[in-house]
Amino acid sequence: DDQKQAYKARIKTLLAAKDAVLVAHYYTDPEIQALAEETGGCVSDSLEMARFGNQHPAKTLLVAGVKFMGETAKILTPEKTVIMPTLEATCSLDLGCPAAEFSAFCDQHPDRVVVVYANTSAAVKARADWVVTSSIALDVVDYLDSQGKKILWGPDKHLGAYVQKKTGADMLLWNGACIVHDEFKANALRELKKQHPEAAVLVHPESPDSVVELADAVGSTSQLIKAAQTLPNQHFIVATDRGIFYKMQQLMPEKSFVEAPTGGNGATCRSCAHCPWMAMNGLKAIEEALLSPSGHEIFVDAALRERALLPLNRMLNFAK
Ligand code: 13P
Ligand code: SF4
Repeated sequence: DDQKQAYKARIKTLLAAKDAVLVAHYYTDPEIQALAEETGGCVSDSLEMARFGNQHPAKTLLVAGVKFMGETAKILTPEKTVIMPTLEATCSLDLGCPAAEFSAFCDQHPDRVVVVYANTSAAVKARADWVVTSSIALDVVDYLDSQGKKILWGPDKHLGAYVQKKTGADMLLWNGACIVHDEFKANALRELKKQHPEAAVLVHPESPDSVVELADAVGSTSQLIKAAQTLPNQHFIVATDRGIFYKMQQLMPEKSFVEAPTGGNGATCRSCAHCPWMAMNGLKAIEEALLSPSGHEIFVDAALRERALLPLNRMLNFAK
């Protein structure tokens, strides 16, 4: 603990010295989220991270999350230095959607508007007409559907199926999944609900349809936090990365939260629902990134950046 405090103190000094601000996702470890809060940074969902970095005056953005979040920041603010604790922190959705194959898929369906989830590489975004995060996917697809558009959606099949079901839009889905949310189990969740009949179920839409069907609220990380604040229940079962419990407990110390089961027999797995790439964002890596940015800095090819900026700006302007 003393060691952690020493890291935190040095990081605070470095952030100030380098005119840097920490932009963290809700799935990072509690100490990283606390550090972002203590230093005037932000802790939020991926849409708010993009907005915050875009508007903040700091010269350097230190993005604690996964690579697509750093790339999004760089695309939006190329004049800033964007660094990450590690460039190895990827996402199974990004990995499962290589740009060349996705682009070929789009070429086969030229009649469709290409909508991609923010959890993709800059090159995939550059092939898209729209970028969306989970917090505005429904609204954007609903809007496109009302314009009579047919949609090609990538890469998350579960989020895509959820949006398709809710909006009734004509959507062709890429076959990708989040390795964390894909593990939630409907049968085990049903059993857990029996043990906590008074609990409301909160589900991130990257989870399988069978799990989403059991939800009282479905939404992005910030929407789930809001739902926990708004719903009258005192107890919640939560199907998303366990990093989110830090903020939920901080905002609602009087309420109780349990993890949705990722294994069979109704047993909760205490370490399964945590993204291995989000977990790479430690204090040591943050200090290293601030001390020697090379090897931590995000670069996006200029032509790709210009092209990817269009669908990203469309998202930010739509969400206003
Ligand atoms: P949010 O946009 O809900 O923060 O989701 C990002 C993510 O990676 C979820 O797994
Ligand atoms: Fe990607 Fe899933 Fe990790 Fe989110 S939790 S960054 S979607 S692998």
